[in-house]
Formats: sequence, C-alpha cells, structure tokens
Amino acid sequence: MFNFEVNIGDSIVYLLSLPKIQAMEGKKVSESFTIMNELVLPNDTNTFGNLMGGRLMYWMDIAAGIAAGRHCNTPSMTASVDNLSFKNPIKLGNVVHIEAKVCRAFNTSMEIHIKVWGEDLLHQYKYESNEAFFTFVALDPNGKPRKVPELIPETEDEKKLFDGALRRRQIRLILAGKMKPDDANELKALFIKE
Ligand SMILES: CC(C)(COP(=O)(O)OP(=O)(O)OC[C@H]1O[C@@H](n2cnc3c(N)ncnc32)[C@H](O)[C@@H]1OP(=O)(O)O)[C@@H](O)C(=O)NCCC(=O)NCCS
Repeated sequence: MFNFEVNIGDSIVYLLSLPKIQAMEGKKVSESFTIMNELVLPNDTNTFGNLMGGRLMYWMDIAAGIAAGRHCNTPSMTASVDNLSFKNPIKLGNVVHIEAKVCRAFNTSMEIHIKVWGEDLLHQYKYESNEAFFTFVALDPNGKPRKVPELIPETEDEKKLFDGALRRRQIRLILAGKMKPDDANELKALFIKE
C-alpha cells in the first residue's frame, strides 16, 4: 500500500492506500483464488430440471471477473471464453461450486481457469460439471487496455497451467483473427522440430 499527495489547483487531495499495481509487483496465483457457491433454484433451470448453461456461464463470468480483479486491482473486461464444454448437468436443488484463479498474466490480459462442480447436499457427493478458460483485459480510466502485474506460479499444477497458457493464447488469437498462424511460434514448435 502507498500514500500519495496530489495537487489539483488550490486543493491537495490525499490518495490513501493505493493498491500494489502502482509498483507492478508480481502476484501469486493464490492471491486471485476465488470460490463462489450458488444454489440452483427453479428459475435457474431448463425444462429437464437442470441448471441452464447460460445461467452457469453468467456465474462463471462473475467468478472469473473477481479473480481477475484480485490480480490486477483495476476494472477489467471479458475478452474471450474458450473450451467451455458441459460434462454433467447440475440438478435443481444442488449447489454450484465454482473455483477461479489467474493462470497467466500477459501484457494487458490475464487468462483465468475456472472449474465447476455440482454438489448434492442430501446424498453428500460432488461431481465435476465443467471447466473453461476466460481471458480478461485490464482497463485504464479511459477504457484502454493497461498493463497487469506478472503472475508467479508456485505449485506444479500452477506451473503446468502457466506453461500451457502461451499455446492456448495463440490458438484463441488465431481464431479471433488477431494473430497470423505464421506468427504462432509456440504452436509451430509442437509440430515442427528444427
Ligand atoms: C477486449 C478489448 C478491451 C481488447 O481491446 P483491443 O483494442 O482489441 O486491444 P488490443 O488489441 O490492444 O488487445 C489488448 C489485449 O487484449 C487481448 N485480446 C484482444 N482480443 C482478444 C480475444 N478475442 N481473445 C483473447 N485476448 C484478446 C490481446 O491479446 C491483448 O492482450 P495483451 O496486451 O496481454 O497481449 C476490446 O476488444 C473490447 O472492449 N471488447 C469488448 C469486451 C466486452 O464487451 N466484454 C463483455 C462481454 S459481453
């Protein structure tokens, strides 16, 4: 935390407790770790009595946004969502358990990994529902992308997600028309051995 004094015309404004973004210190994955729980109510379900995919995506987006915010401490926006596939439906009356964490920070964007489980409280078991990768972009007060702190992976799992993020980033930028396949060096290295 930092204390700043800003002179605006005749008045001095004291900005207290500005977050770490000022110093751009690297942050650990655990600092962005977010858990969110929701109960599936009748209004959340489809005609089969299962949680609607759209409602789940809404909650996942919120969890990802909180994780991104914990990492960059500035407003951020969803840029893309990928690898969203539903393994098991979540039933009416079950709990939705969402875990989100930043798995790599690039320049102005962050990749966030989301895992979702359903939890049956009556029969006391948890089941995997789905997982996805969200990309959030940090924004400055003018709505322009701004630099984010580096991410420091610590555990083996965190390092694995961190390493894979470069390849996933290239795939999604190619699909979005924002990168030429010829420039995707990480992907090419998988297939072309020098
Ligand atoms: C996301 C957004 C801010 C990016 O702005 P932009 O002018 O394209 O900015 P840039 O091209 O400079 O890219 C900025 C960053 O976004 C990333 N990015 C842009 N489009 C992306 C996409 N489709 N998927 C993943 N990342 C993307 C870039 O890779 C770059 O990341 P980096 O700085 O870490 O390398 C802009 O496209 C936007 O506002 N989109 C609408 C977002 C929105 O409305 N979200 C709510 C969903 S309803």
